[in-house]
Amino acid sequence: MGALVQHITGARPNFPKAAPVIRALTELGVEQRLVHTGQHYDEKMSDVFFRQLGLPRPDVDLGVGSGTHARQTAAIMTGLEDLVMAERPALLIVYGDVNSTVAAALVAAKLGIPLAHVEAGLRSFDMTMPEEVNRLVTDRLSDLLLCTSADAVAHLGNEGVHPAKIHLVGNPMIDTLLANLDRFDAEAARAGHGLSDRYVVATLHRPGNVDDPADAAELVKAIHSVADQAEMVLPLHPRGRAKLQEAGLFDHPALRIIDPLGYIEFMGLVRGAAAVVTDSGGVQEETTILGVPCLTLRPNTERPVTITHGTNQLVTRQNLPQVASAVLSRGRAESWSVPPLWDGRAGERIAAIVADQLARF
Ligand code: UD1
Ligand code: UDP
Repeated sequence: MGALVQHITGARPNFPKAAPVIRALTELGVEQRLVHTGQHYDEKMSDVFFRQLGLPRPDVDLGVGSGTHARQTAAIMTGLEDLVMAERPALLIVYGDVNSTVAAALVAAKLGIPLAHVEAGLRSFDMTMPEEVNRLVTDRLSDLLLCTSADAVAHLGNEGVHPAKIHLVGNPMIDTLLANLDRFDAEAARAGHGLSDRYVVATLHRPGNVDDPADAAELVKAIHSVADQAEMVLPLHPRGRAKLQEAGLFDHPALRIIDPLGYIEFMGLVRGAAAVVTDSGGVQEETTILGVPCLTLRPNTERPVTITHGTNQLVTRQNLPQVASAVLSRGRAESWSVPPLWDGRAGERIAAIVADQLARF
């Protein structure tokens, strides 16, 4: 086809979203380069996803590492600008709502390179979340807005985005989940972590939960009250580790704090869980497909479809113990609905739209 597409990834949630898009574009014979910004760099936050999801090795690793928002975003922009000027891709593709996403969007816009945003249009309407800022800016600068749900399409329409730019494609994160479903061995994961039949998985990393010591202390209290009711395992994101440890998180006999897990091991644990307690975006979606009750420790969600169609509900640090008790005694539902087009074929739809766009350049 001749026209070069560059994928910009950098943080853990980017990798399962990019994998099916890259695969589908490869099948169409599109020339591609994969860029890793280096926003996440620990083996368990990055490399393990490349190995487990069969992602190609990044062609370029900018190696930016951690920093304040401005420093990290600026470092990504500086590194990427040189690369984009040298390679002049026909299209840049960005994923989700992390700093790597918005940094790449700004570089593309300033250099006049067309931009596609996978997971466009999600809105929490909470401007205290760094991700909401990243989503708004990225969508404003995008030429192709690829949406996972109808509410996202509606938000973009309300913001005045031309309908021709917006496409409802489904959820590539769910493509990855469905493609790997046979590898999620709940029993092996349970036994491997020495858990009994009924256990809860937790993940926590949002600044609103873990950054402030007073929030962290309240959070620890709430998590411990769930651990009073059922064994828990918490693969802890590096962001919250120090604050949560100081707040006493590690001091409960029924709560296992472990390092972040590889994707296949993590999803194995989630698959067999009685419930999940989380503040992750991706986990709200994955539990929706697996039918695992999800208690989301946030005041809002940009993924309301996981509540209307899925197994998700919002909880506070105050009501988590009561809600967990009700969910654990009710057990998992026998059947549940899933959002439209979360069917494992979003990558193919995105690739078809991208190829069509490339043919017009
Ligand atoms: C980022 C995203 C967030 C996403 C999360 C997924 C932004 C603004 N936030 O948050 O939307 O939900 O990733 O996991 O982009 N660290 C390590 N090792 C690593 C990476 C980070 O130890 O490999 C530590 C560093 O101390 C770093 C901190 O984690 O300062 C935060 O990392 P950062 O990438 O800035 O934000 P996340 O909290 O990971
Ligand atoms: N995940 C994983 N191991 C873990 C925790 C999470 O493989 O220990 C996966 C899971 O598929 C999740 C994805 O990483 O959906 C991104 O999660 P994260 O919570 O970091 O990011 P968010 O979706 O909140 O931006």
